[in-house]
Amino acid sequence: MSWIKDQDDRSWVQKLCTAVLKQGLIPQHVGFILDGNRRYARGQNLQTVEGHRKGFEKLSDTLRWCLDLGITEVTVFVFSIENFKRSEEEVSGLMKLAKEKFQKLLDEEENLMNEGVCVQIVGDWSLVPEDLRILMAKAMYMTRNNTRAKLNVAFAYTSRNEITRGMKLIHQGLLDGSILEDDVDCKLLEESFYILPSKPLDILVRTSGEKRLSDFLLWQSAETVLCFTNVLWPEFTYWHLLSVVFQFQIDKRNLMHLNLKANDLQVTDLAMEQRQHKFIEKIRQQQWKIIADDASRINSSL
Ligand code: FPP
Ligand code: MG
Repeated sequence: MSWIKDQDDRSWVQKLCTAVLKQGLIPQHVGFILDGNRRYARGQNLQTVEGHRKGFEKLSDTLRWCLDLGITEVTVFVFSIENFKRSEEEVSGLMKLAKEKFQKLLDEEENLMNEGVCVQIVGDWSLVPEDLRILMAKAMYMTRNNTRAKLNVAFAYTSRNEITRGMKLIHQGLLDGSILEDDVDCKLLEESFYILPSKPLDILVRTSGEKRLSDFLLWQSAETVLCFTNVLWPEFTYWHLLSVVFQFQIDKRNLMHLNLKANDLQVTDLAMEQRQHKFIEKIRQQQWKIIADDASRINSSL
């Protein structure tokens, strides 16, 4: 199964409804908490890892649907740091599945480059097994210049870990004098995160009936429409996605009001902006160096 399903299997009724929805605003950035794989597996008498495999297949459908709808950025919660506490069998099954899928992503280079998708894998890479980390680094490196769409895969991620790590980087910047105390603001902190979204998160969807964020995109969802649906992730359909978009359109008026307020808070101090810019550039370069080093090791390690 490819990362982005290659054929369009929507019915004519679904295409008609899509055309109607497209007359309104389409969210540009959608987040998904892919929940309910194990309950699905239990209901179907499958092994847990098969539930996750079905979850991956649904992700592939959903990425195709998002591209067809004009949603250009998707962020998915694939593996939380908390998930390391699950049974050894499940964790190693998920790592094996992830290895298989990221290898598949590399094998599908042409497809992904044709779609113009930039893949960003975000999380605490120090917790990820080395062979998987190398594949993830290679995937990021390979797609880094694609600009048509963006896929952020949160792996070994939690929001609180991301915020803590951002604060540590800023603390270091204050200690070495590359930034001053007055330079520290919301913008600087969010630029120090793992996730560097190109667009604000418009809507965050969680499947399976759980109404919690489970430490996912806590900062990024400050002004986001939250959408909870009872369907288990492997049973998510195109109709569910259309209803998510419809909900976004209904809530958009409030969102525009909030965005206007946010725009009023812009910084105008030029020297401060330059220091902030230099600091962020330094962090990014360090991050990319680690990724590039990992990516260059792929041939020697596999
Ligand atoms: C949550 O359902 C799902 C996960 C913890 C794993 C998600 C993984 C995938 C969708 C497939 C792997 C994808 C890649 C890119 C390798 P759950 O296990 O919490 O199910 P439950 O809520 O029914 O217990
Ligand atoms: Mg769950």
